[in-house]
Amino acid sequence: MVPQSDEDKAKGVEVWGNIYKVLSHPRCVNCHVEDDRPRWSGKQYGKTQLHGMYVHATATRVGMPGQQMCSTCHAKTNSDVPHGPPGAEVWALAPPEMVWWGKSSDELCAIVKDPAKTGGRDITAFADHIGHDPLVAWGWEPGIGREPAPFSADETVAMLEQWLALGLPCPE
Ligand code: HEC
Ligand code: HEC
Repeated sequence: MVPQSDEDKAKGVEVWGNIYKVLSHPRCVNCHVEDDRPRWSGKQYGKTQLHGMYVHATATRVGMPGQQMCSTCHAKTNSDVPHGPPGAEVWALAPPEMVWWGKSSDELCAIVKDPAKTGGRDITAFADHIGHDPLVAWGWEPGIGREPAPFSADETVAMLEQWLALGLPCPE
């Protein structure tokens, strides 16, 4: 889809900039990595590091079968002690093709428009996932000591709809 006018394009790029603030936030990118090591990044961690305790998600993305699984520590709700494990209905690392970790605004913009990197989701389905997935919702209710992602799930969905209507322009 081609943006209708220079004005729409400029507005669309501005809207994307706010969507990028959400998608690139530590509460989201800590799970959207290419390898199988979740990250500990964001203000409360001091420095960016690989998940401690030798956690490997393996190809299952939920841990080492028969050994250590995410659910060994991550329960269905957040721990209420500082630095306790956060929790949600499911807890899993995102598939490796949905890699957002370390991506610049223009790189991530191209990724979310590429069906090969979104599990086949178009922008409408992508927005729907943000509006309804419990793991995404966790990013705005991350528990004690953790900074939530900016905006809200509803605002992010609305921004994606606006960006779609403006022709999905990416920064150049
Ligand atoms: C041995 C226990 C344990 C296992 C197993 C474990 N975690 Fe964790 N995880 C934790 C604890 C504790 C924290 C919080 C650390 C802190 O706040 O200092 C955490 C934090 C995280 C965070 C950071 C959340 C944030 O943004 O602050 C992610 C992402 C994460 N775990 C993903 C996973 C995934 C995916 C798996 C399975 C592949 C997994 N963990 C397995 C204990 C565990
Ligand atoms: C604990 C790990 C974890 C966290 C934290 C997390 N995600 Fe994800 N994310 C996943 C997994 C697993 C999938 C794959 C789900 C599927 O395809 O059904 C996924 C998929 C997605 C998708 C679909 C992507 C696509 O390309 O089709 C979107 C959108 C998404 N996440 C947004 C977010 C946002 C926004 C945040 C932060 C507010 C976030 N995620 C935080 C694990 C996580």
